[in-house]
Amino acid sequence: MCGIVGYVGTRPALDVVVEGLARLEYRGYDSAGVAVLADGESDERELVTAKRAGKLVNLRNALDETPPPAGTLGMGHTRWATHGAPNDRNAHPHLDCSGKVAVIHNGIIENFAALRAELEENGHKLVSDTDTEAVAHLLEDELRDGGTLADAMRRVCGRLEGAFTLVAVHTGDPDLVVGARRNSPLVVGVGDGENFLASDVAAFIAHTRDAIELGQDQVVELRASGVTVTDFEGRPAEVKEYHVDWDVSAAEKGGYDYFMLKEIAEQPRAVADTLLGRIAADGRLVLDEMRITDQELREVDKIIIVACGTSYHAGLIAKYALEHWAGLPCEVELASEFRYRDPILSRSTLVIAISQSGETMDALMAVRHAREQHAKLLGICNVNGSTLPRECDGVLYTHAGPEVAVASTKAFLTQLVAVYLIALYIAQVRGTKWGDEVFAMIQLLAQMPEKVEKVLETMEPVRELARSLANERSVLFLGRHVGFPVALEGALKLKELAYMHAEGFAAGELKHGPIALIEEGLPVIVVVPPRARAVLHDKIVSNIQEIRARGARTIVIAEEGDETVEPFADTLIRVPAVPTLFQPLVTTVPLQVFACELATAKGHDVDQPRNLAKSVTVE
Ligand code: G6P
Repeated sequence: MCGIVGYVGTRPALDVVVEGLARLEYRGYDSAGVAVLADGESDERELVTAKRAGKLVNLRNALDETPPPAGTLGMGHTRWATHGAPNDRNAHPHLDCSGKVAVIHNGIIENFAALRAELEENGHKLVSDTDTEAVAHLLEDELRDGGTLADAMRRVCGRLEGAFTLVAVHTGDPDLVVGARRNSPLVVGVGDGENFLASDVAAFIAHTRDAIELGQDQVVELRASGVTVTDFEGRPAEVKEYHVDWDVSAAEKGGYDYFMLKEIAEQPRAVADTLLGRIAADGRLVLDEMRITDQELREVDKIIIVACGTSYHAGLIAKYALEHWAGLPCEVELASEFRYRDPILSRSTLVIAISQSGETMDALMAVRHAREQHAKLLGICNVNGSTLPRECDGVLYTHAGPEVAVASTKAFLTQLVAVYLIALYIAQVRGTKWGDEVFAMIQLLAQMPEKVEKVLETMEPVRELARSLANERSVLFLGRHVGFPVALEGALKLKELAYMHAEGFAAGELKHGPIALIEEGLPVIVVVPPRARAVLHDKIVSNIQEIRARGARTIVIAEEGDETVEPFADTLIRVPAVPTLFQPLVTTVPLQVFACELATAKGHDVDQPRNLAKSVTVE
């Protein structure tokens, strides 16, 4: 949610910043803007800004028409609007009254109304509707009292409430970019004679893979010659350096029209990479970053999973695996609801937070709430250096590689692999399954990359089907057991990408309401459990007959060899036969392809669906 880039070095800052923004546009695309300090000899430099509503291309066109003067220090912003309409005026950067300070921001400053009122009373003229602009004027006041931009930023941060990543530049500090963070992401890229700041390493990965993770409530001073990090009081802060294990090619489309198509295609590798190094030669699971001891795991008496969006659906599937293998009661919570109830937690509760980005504010707040109640915290996360893993006791990284398309695909499949690994690991530690049973499941899990590959090879009929349904108004999804969260995920994908009415239901609930929605020709996608789950399987086959009798167009996803469904399916989509708990890995893929193709047929940009952002860093 809002992408931020800062640069100081020897190259043209504008090129570095705009290229970085292009890689961060998934975070928000309501407007884009840049600020550059013009080259020169004097101690005071000219500050030039440009900003445009809409996608980055509008800003690029404006910059082509009126190129700003050359400069080697700059910053840029791509916005997901919170305060103020997405127009030119509210686009970042925002300036102070003197035009000497520029600020960009990700997050929400909750006490901005009071700050704004105070500033206006003191004679400041604010020209936008944003919370961000107040910071530029507060910095102006603080700079008047002396010190560098970094000193001013530290003092201002002490007055702010809410969530923020702020980056600022000042005409009087021509070699300095200052960043600050609380509750929103900011990473440093360390180069040779140049340094970078960004919401995500993708922005600078073409230039350096060496990064520094910033902690909570820290201020970073970025100069071409080096990087200094302090807390808000100015005390030197401890920072963690790390090397990014993927390169620029992973953050590019690689010949695909959309990132989403590439990310769907990458799923077999993503699943394989997430398994890599976690199965020892003797077949036992080894989860290095778990950092929760076996003894602590034996003491766990309840698991609560918190997550949002697609990650929440991974959590719903995790419940089935954890109850079945680890034999522990498990609740799954929308992270946004969790801390506003009174969830019952104790030292023996294990809270598992699932988040691709590791920056979703609701998930972070849920984790902090659980921490206060002394629960053990385990994160499942795809982004190294993000906030969530730092705030958990242990972490299991999914190795999906960078996911750029706003709608999650490969991260979801790897989250499923992660929850299977955790459930089997707990079973191994607590002895709730025999060693050979755990071993047998791991062997089957290791076959899943090729099963997913097989699904991808047979997707042409699904694409055809999607194109034929592009003008439908509504699609329903039905599933049972782990097929129920898959139905929810299928519906979410269609909403996100095709802007269509779509609902997922537990098939057993059909007769309690949803069946009233069935009318002649309504497409209903049904995820059929494996035949091995005979009772569930047969019940859903009855459900298919019930909706078909009422005129539904039945689109049935069933395993190879399942002939019982054939007479009742208007369209039959085959997936490889796999164990029940692993079935979401193969049944979700056709639903991703379906939504992506249908949305493309409607002419939508599937990488950047309207109103959405990949990483929701505000509550
Ligand atoms: C946003 C994205 C979704 C994602 C959700 C949770 O809504 O558009 O694709 O599933 O956030 O994100 P997280 O990074 O916490 O998994």
